Amino acid sequence: MRQKLKLHLILLLGLCVFINRTHAQLIGGDEDEEEEEEEEEEESVEDETFEEKLQRKNIKQDSSLSVDKLIAKYGYEAEVHHVTTEDGYILTMHRIRSQGSQPFLLQHGLVDSSAGFVVMGPNVSLAYLLADHNYDVWLGNARGNRYSRNHTSLDPDESKFWDFSWHEIGMYDLPAMIDYVLKVTGFKRLHYAGHSQGCTSFFVMCSMRPTYNEKVISMQALAPAVYAKETEDHPYIRAISLYFNSLVGSSIREMFNGEFRFLCRMTEETERLCIEAVFGIVGRNWNEFNRKMFPVILGHYPAGVAAKQVKHFIQIIKSGRFAPYSYSSNKNMLLYRDHQPPRYNLSLVTVPTFVYYSTNDLLCHPRDVESMCDDLGNVTGKYLVPVKEFNHMDFLWAIDVRKMLYQRMLQVLGKLPEDPQGEGRAVRVSRGARGRGLHAI
Ligand SMILES: *[C@@H]1O[C@H](CO)[C@@H](O)[C@H](O)[C@H]1NC(C)=O
Ligand SMILES: *[C@@H]1O[C@H](CO)[C@@H](O)[C@H](O)[C@H]1NC(C)=O
Ligand SMILES: *[C@@H]1O[C@H](CO)[C@@H](O)[C@H](O)[C@H]1NC(C)=O
Ligand SMILES: *[C@@H]1O[C@H](CO)[C@@H](O)[C@H](O)[C@H]1NC(C)=O
Repeated sequence: MRQKLKLHLILLLGLCVFINRTHAQLIGGDEDEEEEEEEEEEESVEDETFEEKLQRKNIKQDSSLSVDKLIAKYGYEAEVHHVTTEDGYILTMHRIRSQGSQPFLLQHGLVDSSAGFVVMGPNVSLAYLLADHNYDVWLGNARGNRYSRNHTSLDPDESKFWDFSWHEIGMYDLPAMIDYVLKVTGFKRLHYAGHSQGCTSFFVMCSMRPTYNEKVISMQALAPAVYAKETEDHPYIRAISLYFNSLVGSSIREMFNGEFRFLCRMTEETERLCIEAVFGIVGRNWNEFNRKMFPVILGHYPAGVAAKQVKHFIQIIKSGRFAPYSYSSNKNMLLYRDHQPPRYNLSLVTVPTFVYYSTNDLLCHPRDVESMCDDLGNVTGKYLVPVKEFNHMDFLWAIDVRKMLYQRMLQVLGKLPEDPQGEGRAVRVSRGARGRGLHAI
């Protein structure tokens, strides 16, 4: 079974590299999209109720709208901003605007984009929940993803553009976005929540540029992929590192900017295999997976990364050291004055940090998270999601993610009272309640 899954992943990877070369650009609003829409309009499903038809239409629409259009569609005030980093990358930020409210920056994980925080819609996704609780929500996009493929002097067609990892995202992208948000809003500090690599790069920033600790009120760390000693046994990671070993010296710079839509949606069976392939990486949990929404996921993922980001993760998994990118020992000597890069010093991360993690997260083992917590400078608490099957993507995608996870975050943020029973009540905020400074329900 494992073997079979591994094979599928390699096939998918191969396909994705292939599509990658065709430079398919997916951002909403391109011409072929409309053609496609017309074609598909004819397909209809028999015995469909009005609600089902509406839902199907919504799902189709949501899978091709860009993040700002998606936000606007659901009745929130959307904005698009561009931020230029010190090293010239031009990043897109999305905003669910709430003028004068406390800014809250959300930063996505690997192969994701700002879409990750809105993709499941206003009744599920975190960005809307925070907007409902009167935050001014800003969504970052790391260099290289589909919204941040621009530079003052480099072109994404040049390999030089792709010479970065999450180290640079932490060193340049996050500081630029934080400074930008504070400048536009006039606030001195913001809240930050990261998923996976959104945590990794945040800790890089705070340890390498400690003055940024002062600009962040709190860090809500969802599935922080930081220490990864336990991930080494992960069968897919082994497959991916084999894949990279077979590519030594190749010209691959960019990955996962392809489309799985066509392959995955060919038949029921290919769709199921695609979902299993995702589960193979992030942990298997059919219970919380909303299969109806899979087309929307396929429309927004994967959003594109530099191959170096993936290689860097593989390095920390293999070496067991949370450290900058390792080159040949000569180059390391030159760059770091040592044959290996020095570890990031997590004790310099003094932002009050609350950590959320889960037992079925194949990319982020609870033991690794706990040893990370021991090393971070200011952990104010941690929350192990009390659902055994909860996986790495359930932090964004789970059907009941609000009840299982975000409710706890609202308590940590002081927006909901702590529950003495520890048993979660469902969070319900009506749209009408927005903007009225909801502090408790
Ligand atoms: C959100 O949930 C409410 C109540 O359950 C429902 O009326 C509404 O249609 C839902 N909105 C969306 C966009 O699914
Ligand atoms: C890239 O940024 C430049 C500004 O430096 C702008 O003129 C150009 O339109 C941008 N290109 C894209 C594709 O957004
Ligand atoms: C990490 O930072 C702390 C606090 O400044 C310092 O005491 C410690 O020596 C540093 N550790 C390393 C390995 O540099
Ligand atoms: C940790 O955060 C608290 C705020 O929750 C702050 O008062 C304290 O100074 C921080 N500790 C360190 C070591 O920075």
